[in-house]
Amino acid sequence: MAVLFLLLLLLLQISTSTYANIEGDALYAMRRSVKDPTNVLQSWDPTLVDPCTWFHVTCDSENRVTRLDLGNAKLSGNLVPDLGKLERLQYLELYMNNFVGTIPSEFGGLKNLISLDLFHNNLTGFIPPSLSKLSNIRFMRLNHNKFTGRIPRDLTKLPNLKILDVSNNDLCGTFPTWGSFSKLTEESFMNNPRLEGPELMGSVGYDDRDGN
Ligand SMILES: *[C@@H]1O[C@H](CO)[C@@H](O)[C@H](O)[C@H]1NC(C)=O
Repeated sequence: MAVLFLLLLLLLQISTSTYANIEGDALYAMRRSVKDPTNVLQSWDPTLVDPCTWFHVTCDSENRVTRLDLGNAKLSGNLVPDLGKLERLQYLELYMNNFVGTIPSEFGGLKNLISLDLFHNNLTGFIPPSLSKLSNIRFMRLNHNKFTGRIPRDLTKLPNLKILDVSNNDLCGTFPTWGSFSKLTEESFMNNPRLEGPELMGSVGYDDRDGN
């Protein structure tokens, strides 16, 4: 009987620490992937039961990660797809570093994300269409990088988007002006030399525009 009880206790322990391990492992994958010349990630010890005591990491009352605050931390290297496993993450603050490479499409799994701040890095590639799954996102600041390609149209469906800044990149095509983009100004898109301007929609035909 006592053995059974101990076994149950062990099972309970395993089930409550599972998320902590997944999330600690995801963050530790990031530590291994980046260069950290000023040792801001020194406290990230993977042998601890969860990452909640690590510097620059904030957890909720259930020890799930809600914030990652690593703005202006002199980090360089790639963003790891593992970060997409942080299901409760609300604030991903990685601005003003020297991150390179692309935004992993896995970031679309951050379903509680409120703020995605990647501005002032050296990120390249397309803005992943999977970011249109971030239904809670309010602030998406991707400015001052080297993003290319078109702005994914599905981003206009993000119901809570208040601020989008993709200025100072190398995007092309036009930018949408409907949906959640209708509240944005052209400043959100400036300094993309190949971006042509707003996409005109609806009943305004070429004849009408010529007539003005
Ligand atoms: C981006 O890379 C260039 C050249 O490789 C470098 O001069 C610049 O400082 C980098 N930008 C950031 C924000 O790290």
